[in-house]
Amino acid sequence: MHYAQITGWGKCVPPAVLSNADLATFMETSDEWISSRTGIKERRICHVNFSDMAIVAAQHALAAADLDASEIDLILLGSLTMDSLCPNTASIVQNAIGATNAASIDINSACTGFLYGVHIGSSLIQTGAHRKILVIGGEFISHYMNWARRDVAVLFGDACGAVVLEASEEKLGLIASRIGCEMDTTSAIQITNLGSAYSRLTEDFLYPDWNFEGQEVFKRAIKAMAFACEDVLRQEGISIEDVNIMVPHQANQRILDALAKRIGMPRDKIMVNVHKYGNTSAGTIPVALAEALEEKRIKPGDYVLMATFGAGLTWGAGLVKWGERVTPLRVSDADLPPCNQTGLEILAPHIARYKAKAATE
Ligand SMILES: CC(C)(COP(=O)(O)OP(=O)(O)OC[C@H]1O[C@@H](n2cnc3c(N)ncnc32)[C@H](O)[C@@H]1OP(=O)(O)O)[C@@H](O)C(=O)NCCC(=O)NCCS
Repeated sequence: MHYAQITGWGKCVPPAVLSNADLATFMETSDEWISSRTGIKERRICHVNFSDMAIVAAQHALAAADLDASEIDLILLGSLTMDSLCPNTASIVQNAIGATNAASIDINSACTGFLYGVHIGSSLIQTGAHRKILVIGGEFISHYMNWARRDVAVLFGDACGAVVLEASEEKLGLIASRIGCEMDTTSAIQITNLGSAYSRLTEDFLYPDWNFEGQEVFKRAIKAMAFACEDVLRQEGISIEDVNIMVPHQANQRILDALAKRIGMPRDKIMVNVHKYGNTSAGTIPVALAEALEEKRIKPGDYVLMATFGAGLTWGAGLVKWGERVTPLRVSDADLPPCNQTGLEILAPHIARYKAKAATE
């Protein structure tokens, strides 16, 4: 059996910033409320298409692995904010990077899209069906946000990350994983007016909205992630003290603190960047992983623990054994086109639309 070593990693974070103070200019909120409830100080707003971020992140990951795109035999793209449903967005990325020999699959499991992708990709490499896989996770969530809802709009941001998985004889990469879904909480995080279950005969279809049971999600997330983390450690026969670094889903600092306490993980061993980007859904883990490597927080041979949850409620954890190399083989200069607008300026037409709708209700 082969293992699926992570040999490349990359991120794409759009340049336009939306701070808590910016949010307070158009909704009743404050930096104090957002910071104390979530740890988030600012987030990024995408000025291009979602696939543009995915393409840049993929190019960085390929360079880090020193691979040509034509060597990739599968692309798995986790997101709920795809460019389009037809064609699938993984095929748009495939075409742009020139991955001529790849199959391309979109995965829609919200915030767990990246970890689900690494789980599926690693399993396919273990069976021998594939040898080099690009797993991408990210989100253009600002596009679907109801900017009149302060309880949800302050939590999210846009970003994308990617990794390359390659077949390895050594026991490296995702060596244990556990994914699942709590079927009785499908409505706890729900984007309504988006999808074929909603009537196209009313104006509502133009206004995706959020149904969000914040406190229920909070409790369930901690329970499910703790269960999944303990399960992967048990599978590998190691204890939490053996884990060198945790790279979790970045939804909320308070969720991270509660999870850390529950599983006995010291806070200084947890990679946190939620203050800079907010919750970027399927983008949080690959972006945090890329930044942990940039910051030299991952050392050769480390055990890296990942944990996540998202709409569904989908959840999962993965234990990664890192290889010898913690630096990229090559560095790509791929970047997004320049942006001459602030986050607030990009969002202005969307905010106006949702405000106008809210005023009529
Ligand atoms: C959303 C969340 C931060 C709210 O924190 P909370 O402590 O539970 O706060 P509550 O929902 O009880 O709201 C408290 C008050 O703040 C108000 N409020 C909500 N959003 C606000 C905002 N952005 N600014 C100011 N006040 C706000 C509410 O209206 C409520 O007011 P009320 O008491 O007068 O009714 C928290 O529930 C959470 O993090 N949940 C998990 C969400 C998540 O991570 N989802 C991602 C899934 S991948």
